[in-house]
Amino acid sequence: MTLKRKYYSGKSYQRTLSIEELRRVAKKTVPNFSFEYVEGGSESERTLQWNSRALDEIKLVPNTLIDTSSRHQRTSLFGQEINSPLVIAPTGLNGMLSKRGDVALARAAARLGIPFSLSTLSNVSLEEVAKESGGKLWMQLYVMTDRELTRNIIQRADKAGYDALVFTSDANVFGQREWDQRNYREPAKLDFRNMLDVARHPRWIFNILVPDGIPKFENIFDRMPPEARTAQGGIAFVPKLFDAKISWEDVKWLRDIWPRKLIIKGILNAADAKHALHLGCDGIVVSNHGGRQLDSAVAPIEVLPEIIESVGSKLTVLVDNGFRRGTDIIKAIAMGADAVMIGRPTLYGLAAGGEAGVNHALSILTTEIDRVLGQTGCRSIDDVGPHLLR
Ligand SMILES: Cc1cc2nc3c(=O)[nH]c(=O)nc-3n(C[C@H](O)[C@H](O)[C@H](O)COP(=O)(O)O)c2cc1C
Repeated sequence: MTLKRKYYSGKSYQRTLSIEELRRVAKKTVPNFSFEYVEGGSESERTLQWNSRALDEIKLVPNTLIDTSSRHQRTSLFGQEINSPLVIAPTGLNGMLSKRGDVALARAAARLGIPFSLSTLSNVSLEEVAKESGGKLWMQLYVMTDRELTRNIIQRADKAGYDALVFTSDANVFGQREWDQRNYREPAKLDFRNMLDVARHPRWIFNILVPDGIPKFENIFDRMPPEARTAQGGIAFVPKLFDAKISWEDVKWLRDIWPRKLIIKGILNAADAKHALHLGCDGIVVSNHGGRQLDSAVAPIEVLPEIIESVGSKLTVLVDNGFRRGTDIIKAIAMGADAVMIGRPTLYGLAAGGEAGVNHALSILTTEIDRVLGQTGCRSIDDVGPHLLR
């Protein structure tokens, strides 16, 4: 990655035709450190790259001469109708890409009629997101070393009416994202090169830094020790919140105290999927955390068939990582996934154009899904099945 040289302005995102084009606009719109935070994977980034390559290797076999003039992509998830088989994945620090980024993402999801997952590490509090966005909201949970703080988030999410709790199971030990770390001379302090780069992004400075300062972790800020309440202190403190002790006992605890849908995110094998089922979970996300945790982890799409075979009829199965095209999404649905979570594509939209940019990212994906349905001889998501796969 190289630092960007020219100031990038305007509504360039509106002209982008694909998520890859939107990614390039996002890269030019926000400072380097902020973009690399989104983009990076862990260590050698083998998993990050493999996530998309594994999708590339699957081919589609269309059926022909079927009247698909009237088609739609509505489907049902946990008994609720959603307008596309998509869910916006939880991502922390969205406020580094656009002012009140969490609200922008949640509103765009509500506009399309799909769920939005709010990260524990959001920059707008879970109550404010619920108040300002409406729509179907899921709360992502890191079970942290401080279990009282964890309980506090669960109770607040319950009170604010979140439909589901998404327990992220693959962040027991924090991943090493080297690109991201190289931008700092010490934790949370940018190096000189990146400080200069920030100065070259006045639009970002006026959108984010001038009104509110460096975004804070609003869900947990009040419970952080005083030394962690500065922007720098907060960022350095966060990795310490992750708890290597988390176990299936925590899932039992969550099942006892959380009244609505419980989803485990970070499942990559059939035995763990069965465990989630037996402990009364409602769904799983087959996920390797966007290639940001264990490097060399399998791509979710590789293990999806065996997971579907073992629990697909009893659990709602979502999948994520590397989905950039409508064809990718249809491949996962054809394998039996109920929906696909998307992370970076909507973050590119957020960085490039705020809420309107997220709408644009979602519109690219839904337009592609619609086209692929037509081209494969499907009138709806129900028509998509393993017969389409090679
Ligand atoms: C910038 C960024 C922040 C993330 N933060 C979280 C988080 O707070 N909680 C979580 O469960 N997953 C987090 N993830 C992982 C995503 O939820 C999701 O699994 C992944 O991004 C999907 O892959 P994709 O980005 O290739 O679509 C994050 C991913 C990115 C890119």
